[in-house]
Amino acid sequence: MSTRNTRREFLQNSIATAIGTTLIGTSFADDIDYIAAVTGRAIPGASIFDAESTADDVLAGVDLTGKTALLTGCNSGIGYETMRAMTARGAHVIGAARTLEKAEKACASVDGETTPLMIELTDLDAVVQAAANVASMNIPLDMLILNAGIMALPEREVVNSVEKQFAVNHLGHFLLTEKLIDSVVAAKHGRVVVVSSMAHVWAPEEGIQFENLDAEVGYEPFKAYGQSKLANGLFSRELARRLADTNATSNSLHPGVIKTNLGRHLPETEDGGSDDDSTSSFTWKTIPQGAATSCYVAAHPDVAEITGYYFSDCNPAQPNALMQDDAIAEKLWTVSEQLTAEYRS
Ligand SMILES: NC(=O)c1ccc[n+]([C@@H]2O[C@H](COP(=O)([O-])OP(=O)(O)OC[C@H]3O[C@@H](n4cnc5c(N)ncnc54)[C@H](OP(=O)(O)O)[C@@H]3O)[C@@H](O)[C@H]2O)c1
Repeated sequence: MSTRNTRREFLQNSIATAIGTTLIGTSFADDIDYIAAVTGRAIPGASIFDAESTADDVLAGVDLTGKTALLTGCNSGIGYETMRAMTARGAHVIGAARTLEKAEKACASVDGETTPLMIELTDLDAVVQAAANVASMNIPLDMLILNAGIMALPEREVVNSVEKQFAVNHLGHFLLTEKLIDSVVAAKHGRVVVVSSMAHVWAPEEGIQFENLDAEVGYEPFKAYGQSKLANGLFSRELARRLADTNATSNSLHPGVIKTNLGRHLPETEDGGSDDDSTSSFTWKTIPQGAATSCYVAAHPDVAEITGYYFSDCNPAQPNALMQDDAIAEKLWTVSEQLTAEYRS
């Protein structure tokens, strides 16, 4: 069997596993009740939106005037569409990109109020500086949308002592959130939104490999991506628990499968890089559909009080058991604090 076929089957099996555990099974109902009990908040209901809803659909009639969002990865894909749709409804979006030039260009190309910001998530000094810049604006953050990400780096890379996807997708966002959580809590109903993925099911069997965070042993591109997306969900869940005494919320989500620059490291012949939808094993979403769940969780009034959940297709969904594991979530928090200790004081 060719490497390409093996990879394709791995992707198909993993997606089937994810879909098979979505919205069915008693453990999901139990977990929904459990989270509501831990956070003392409401149980999420089904929304009127679905996989075909777009960002504009979910924000129709929602007035975001006077609300401020900080969004990472504003210059591309889902993040750019999220920014466009939110500013169109009156939000002020602080649009973060890896360089100020990219942020400025993206912000200038949407209608509405924006503030460009440089955040390179591998550079923790830059994360601290960016957070300080935002904090100095002295405005509550109604939405902190942790969207930036990279996927399936072909070769192992290590940044800040950890594998690069873990560094960008999780650790940089962890530090940014820690630095800005007071601004989120200061908002009337501040929301942290973590763009995770159904790819969390590709994580190693044990979940987070705490003894191998630099992936020195057995680096695999999709496994490392899966681990970082699992970390996104676990972080969001633990944050919700820690915010239980506040009005702020934290939720994670899977946006769908969308052709964006995320697939830049995939060979063109594989799913994610192919333009031929007829041979694809995925149900593709358009970018406006891909940004819908982010906009729903970040801004729709129906979920203002909902916290600690994972969403897909603008509805609550069931992540795998690892993403519901509070012990791993707590350990991830502790280890992330240790890894960023010198930047947090
Ligand atoms: N597309 C999908 O099918 C899919 C499925 C599930 C989950 N997701 C998640 O959705 C999120 C958005 O992805 P997308 O599909 O919109 O991909 P995208 O078009 O590649 O956008 C990713 C964004 O992240 C930024 N970024 C990458 N490395 C960064 C770094 N070191 N520091 C700061 N920003 C960085 C990129 O900046 P540059 O443009 O400068 O590189 C870009 O703005 C990601 O978290 C991804 O894991 C996507």
